[in-house]
Amino acid sequence: MYKDKLELKIAGVIGDPINHTRSPLIHQYWINKNQINCFYIPIRVRSFELEKKLFYIKELNFSGLNVTIPHKENILNFVDEIKDSAKVIGAANTIYFKNGKIIADNTDTYGFYQSLIKNFPNYNFKKEKVLVIGAGGASRAVTSVFLKQNIQEIRIINRNIDKAMKIKNDLSSKIKIYNWSEFPISLNEITTIVNTTSLGNLGSEHFNLSLKGVKKGGIAIDLIYNPLKTSFMKQAEKENMRAINGLDMLIYQAKSGFQNWFKNKPTYTNELRKIIEDSIKS
Ligand code: ATR
Repeated sequence: MYKDKLELKIAGVIGDPINHTRSPLIHQYWINKNQINCFYIPIRVRSFELEKKLFYIKELNFSGLNVTIPHKENILNFVDEIKDSAKVIGAANTIYFKNGKIIADNTDTYGFYQSLIKNFPNYNFKKEKVLVIGAGGASRAVTSVFLKQNIQEIRIINRNIDKAMKIKNDLSSKIKIYNWSEFPISLNEITTIVNTTSLGNLGSEHFNLSLKGVKKGGIAIDLIYNPLKTSFMKQAEKENMRAINGLDMLIYQAKSGFQNWFKNKPTYTNELRKIIEDSIKS
């Protein structure tokens, strides 16, 4: 049944709390589909024990590891190599173990790009004027994708303006920075809005800023996927925007890690998407 019965592999995700993570659902789905003899396990790792547990995980010969809150930034202190994508974001969501080394990567840029072109295949970066809301790690991933694709215009608005200024300094002088109080900053010029804040996430405050005045038919992308219909998407749909949640980005960011760990190309399927949706609805 399995291709290499004798070699039992292990992979997993570390974080604290760890119960909410959808990573096991996604990876176990691909492990089964591709008949890989592997267990994917969630491991609770508290902040103070990160270095020690990472060492044990490496000793146990894990194929790979996903990293979630609160370790995404701190883990960079305990790895041997940091890929450029993780350097740009200042955080890692995926770890590879190669020749005794721990390598940190961030696959959110890949995930965001793939989700965008899957949902909007004719997206023309060179013609779009984008507003990114938020200035955390996710905002850096999204912003770096737009910059790489030569977006026509990009603005960032954040509650803490210093964090937005730092992204501009680190990534590109092309980025225009706006104060939170300036919302809705001439939205009539904007053709794409991305919400990278936690506003609207399950258990967080709702996204209740009005998007009135935005171009009709524009694109609204939330990185949040729980709930499936987010408060940001609702605001966007009121203005006749085409809105998507962060579910596809979640699947695609996982795909990149899986591919690297197992040298096996997993497939995005509607069946997988439905499995995750059902886990959120229930
Ligand atoms: P991630 O890694 O997912 O980007 P993060 O780095 O913690 O997470 O960033 C969270 C983002 O949500 C930030 O832009 C944060 O704004 P501040 O930088 O001003 O803190 C934003 N955010 C969180 N709660 C918010 C709120 N109540 N109102 C506005 N923005 C909020």
